[in-house]
This record gives sequence, C-alpha cells and structure tokens, in this order.
Amino acid sequence: MVCLYRDNAKMTHHIPVLQDDMVNAVMTDPDGTYLDATFGRGGHARALLRQLSPKATLLVLDRDPDAYRVAIDLSREDSRVHPRRGVFSEINSILSSNRCVGLSGLMMDIGVSSPQLDDPARGFSFMRSGPLDMRMDPESGESAASWLNRVDLADLIKVLRELGDEKNARSIAKSIVNERPLSTTAELVSAINSAGSRRDPRKHSATRVFQAVRMHVNDELVELKRGIEAGFHRLADGGRIGVLTFHSIEHSVVRQKFRSLVRPELPRRLPVRGTSLGRATYVVKAKRPDAAETNKNPRSRGALLQVVERIE
Ligand SMILES: C[S@@+](CC[C@H](N)C(=O)[O-])C[C@H]1O[C@@H](n2cnc3c(N)ncnc32)[C@H](O)[C@@H]1O
Repeated sequence: MVCLYRDNAKMTHHIPVLQDDMVNAVMTDPDGTYLDATFGRGGHARALLRQLSPKATLLVLDRDPDAYRVAIDLSREDSRVHPRRGVFSEINSILSSNRCVGLSGLMMDIGVSSPQLDDPARGFSFMRSGPLDMRMDPESGESAASWLNRVDLADLIKVLRELGDEKNARSIAKSIVNERPLSTTAELVSAINSAGSRRDPRKHSATRVFQAVRMHVNDELVELKRGIEAGFHRLADGGRIGVLTFHSIEHSVVRQKFRSLVRPELPRRLPVRGTSLGRATYVVKAKRPDAAETNKNPRSRGALLQVVERIE
C-alpha cells in the first residue's frame, strides 16, 4: 500500500517495499515487455529497468496525475519507458492500443503512495486536515465528502465492515450521518471520535474508517480483481504477475484469484483437452518483509508479496 518517500519537487526519498523480491520474481526475460501497473514514483520500475536490456519495453500505468507526470519525466530519460494514465480495469485496452502481445512480467503494488497520503490537499490524511477527497484520480469519480454526505446508514455500515473490518461500524456510521455535512478530513475524524467506540491502542481511531472510505471511493477491490484477470491473460507463456498487498482484505482477494488460476474449476463433464484456459503455478506464495526492512521502513509492515507464473 504505502511506500516511504518525500515528494519535494519531484522525488527525493523513496523506499519501495520488497523491491528486490518483486523485481527478481517478475523478471523472466531481459529483452521482454513489462507492465508496472502502479508506477507511483517509480521505485519498482527503476529497479526493474536496471535489470532489463536496452531492447526491453516497460509500460507504466497510474491513475494519479502526479504519478503520471513523474512517469513522463522518466520516459524522457529512458526510451524503454512508456507512460499511460488509467486504471487496472483498462489494462486490456491499454495493452491492445500499444500492440502488446505477451507480457514477460507485470507488477502491482496496491494502495496509496506516501505522496498521496502525506499531502493534506489530497484528503487521505487523518493526521492533517484537508478537503475530504481521497480520490487517487481527483479528476474522475465521486469524492469521499460527496459520497459520505449522501450514503444511507445501512450502506455505510456495510462499507465500514467489509472494507475496513471496523468492529464499531454501526456506532461510527450513525455518528457520521448525524454530523453531516462533512467537508474536511478533520470533521470525519471528529465524527469517528464522537462515536465513543472502544479503541484499538495500536491504531489511530480513524485508520479503519479512512481505509474503508478510500477503498470504496476508488473502487479498489473491483479494480484489483479486474487488474489481475486482465493482466494474467495478457502474460506470455512463462510470464509472471506479482502483487504486493498491505492488509488482510487485499491479501485474501489476491490469494483467491491466484488459487483459481493455479487450480481453475473446470465445468464438469466437458472435455478439457484443447481448451485455451490459462493456468498458473506459484512462484512466490507468500513473502513478507523481514525485520530489517520493517525497522527501516515501518510502512512496509503488513506487506505481502504473491507471484504466479502463466503456464500453458
Ligand atoms: C503503493 S503506490 C506504488 C508505488 C510504486 N511501486 C513505487 O515504487 O513508487 C500505488 C500506486 O498505484 C496507483 N493505483 C492504485 N490503484 C490503481 C488503479 N486501479 N489503477 C491505476 N493506478 C492505481 C496509485 O495512484 C499509486 O500511485
């Protein structure tokens, strides 16, 4: 989800999570075509480029306008880089319009980046107040404020439970509804606190609610599923997809998707021979950062890397 870097001007400090594990696992052909579907500030992309030959191609995708600008800058320095602005669910059309036949590898590093999280103007932060936005692409979709100010109580409770695993979903949702209209992140924090729910001492009271609202506003689980489906089917034989996730809800979406690719459920009594079903094998089933990495980069805590390879 989160990578540690500061975004003065373009990029100063950056610690991509499980960088070598991700890059080593998806690198299958130094001359190949790759997609980094979550460019961010390009930490994983740059590490991959260092392992690729001058003949390779690296498409990089992000829905965030600031990330896209950094990708454009990188493409001016390195002609192997081809930036695209869009979302995972557009991977098929993006690859088709670039006439990409088979990907050698695909990286997805899910969630928000530190520049998004740390800039109060983007509305992801419960530490510093800003407009209640939370869109990774502020030019499309509905802001968090707009959704929170119109959603009905039952739907809000469902989102807080399903996407935030929030045990106090009902009381927090009631408090949000009572305190509407909300327009800043501080007002949302205040509504959460006035629910007076029992606190988890290891987490800020707003962590789970902000996660749930952000995931809803950006349709993150649907995007994740569509991205894996589209990406996997665009892999060449032997190509690999690596997905880095940061909390249990995302981990299990990827685990289930990968399991269904490794052991697809075939329709009963249908002849299997001759079908073109993509099949996968595990390359990395579950890799977590070690203590050295989590000490150096506390935001890597909770990260999980899963990688599969396409086999015919
Ligand atoms: C955790 S950051 C990636 C950081 C990157 N790996 C690096 O090393 O700098 C995730 C990035 O993915 C982007 N993103 C998240 N969901 C997306 C989606 N569905 N489509 C396109 N980009 C997405 C976010 O805007 C963010 O910039």
